[in-house]
Amino acid sequence: MKLCMIGTGYVGLVSGVCFADLGNEVICVDKDLNKINFLKKGKVPIYEPGLSELVTKNFRNKRLNFSTDLKKSVKESDIIFICVGTPTKKGGSSADLSQIYNVTKEISSSINKFKIIITKSTVPVTTGDEIEKILSRKNSKKKFSVVSNPEFLREGEAIRDFSFPDRVVIGTNDKKAAKIMKNLYSPLISKGASYLQTSRRAAELIKYASNAFLATKITFINEIANLCEKTGINVEDISIGMGLDKRIGSRFLRAGPAYGGSCFPKDTKAIISTADKFKTNLSVVKSVIKSNENRSKILLDRIYRMLKKKLKNKKITFLGVTFKANTDDMRDSSSLKMIPWLSKKGAIIKYFDPTGHKNEFSKLKNVTNKTSIKDAVQNSDLVILHTEWNEFKSINFKNLVKGKKFIIFDMRNLYSSLKIKQQGFKYYSVGK
Ligand code: UDX
Repeated sequence: MKLCMIGTGYVGLVSGVCFADLGNEVICVDKDLNKINFLKKGKVPIYEPGLSELVTKNFRNKRLNFSTDLKKSVKESDIIFICVGTPTKKGGSSADLSQIYNVTKEISSSINKFKIIITKSTVPVTTGDEIEKILSRKNSKKKFSVVSNPEFLREGEAIRDFSFPDRVVIGTNDKKAAKIMKNLYSPLISKGASYLQTSRRAAELIKYASNAFLATKITFINEIANLCEKTGINVEDISIGMGLDKRIGSRFLRAGPAYGGSCFPKDTKAIISTADKFKTNLSVVKSVIKSNENRSKILLDRIYRMLKKKLKNKKITFLGVTFKANTDDMRDSSSLKMIPWLSKKGAIIKYFDPTGHKNEFSKLKNVTNKTSIKDAVQNSDLVILHTEWNEFKSINFKNLVKGKKFIIFDMRNLYSSLKIKQQGFKYYSVGK
């Protein structure tokens, strides 16, 4: 079976490379010629641990190839994965599906034999129905089958998540397509992944409902953390105590800054928009979005109070600015709210991120990038541990700075309060 991945963004590239590594012949297509040439040289345009090595290995052994020719690639393949972006519509909250439908129209004129067309991008319920309608205009229904197969990859952990998924979800009622899809995923199923076959619409909704639920879990623990701060309780005890209940589970109960990234903010908005279309009120998800939007304000207010309500000329350092560790992705990172606000109030900001300089802050007054932790924290009034990179987890602050001691605000609860205080620093964390 030959596979074609359309879109070499996060989803398409990681899935394509991993499918090739499982022994399939894969062609990854993108309309961006520069990107394709870059990939052919073994260079990877996104930051994802382990990805570049897998690209080089599979490109060299010819299981993986890259092309800008969508039609030719589709004609030569049996299984087509649509992996283009579904961002939030400009000025709205629903998903912009223009890329999905443009690609569908191109596929439509290249169906020369039976093909399975799969949406791997996160798409709203009924998108598969619409794709089927478009393809039917030019092709007999016997020539294709439209399947939903959502991805659940986390940035920074994508290769492991692909190789050892909790579940593989296949949305189709077509027996022939189901058999082929199960066969494609059999190496992962035999390693223990649960395999779930559902209706196409259900598979589409499983993805949104999962992300909305995870966002709810994080937002819930963030609000409980606020209560813990007022009542002298350690939120980590609450997370452990709750997590031991198997019905709840211990993961995604880490309190911290507002959740961000390319999925949770976009998908929570999009599921509400879908529900509105079907006249259903998702009030829980609505309040999650509101609470998460308010999260940065709460943390900024704590910073304001830590600095005795004087922000002008205060030297504030951010360690990590991406939305989470092991990625260079800035999309919807809470630092994008916090740094501009603090800069506007007259604070002098330095930041260090293991993935380097960020254009997002280039135009802001008094915001500079430093290339080492030491340079970043020197002479600071306040150091904020914003992202949970491993290299921030065991800094010896006492040895690092000789002069003035700063306040540490550990937004990810990486340190023991006692140890930091013993080093002579004022220490604040989240939910304690
Ligand atoms: C997410 C989903 O996990 C993945 O299944 C989906 O396909 C894409 O979206 P990702 O955005 O890469 O993945 O990151 P994830 O690890 O889920 O974290 C999202 C946000 O939640 C980050 O801002 C992270 O810092 C925050 N988070 C996560 C917490 O604040 N606490 C937690 O306990 C877990």
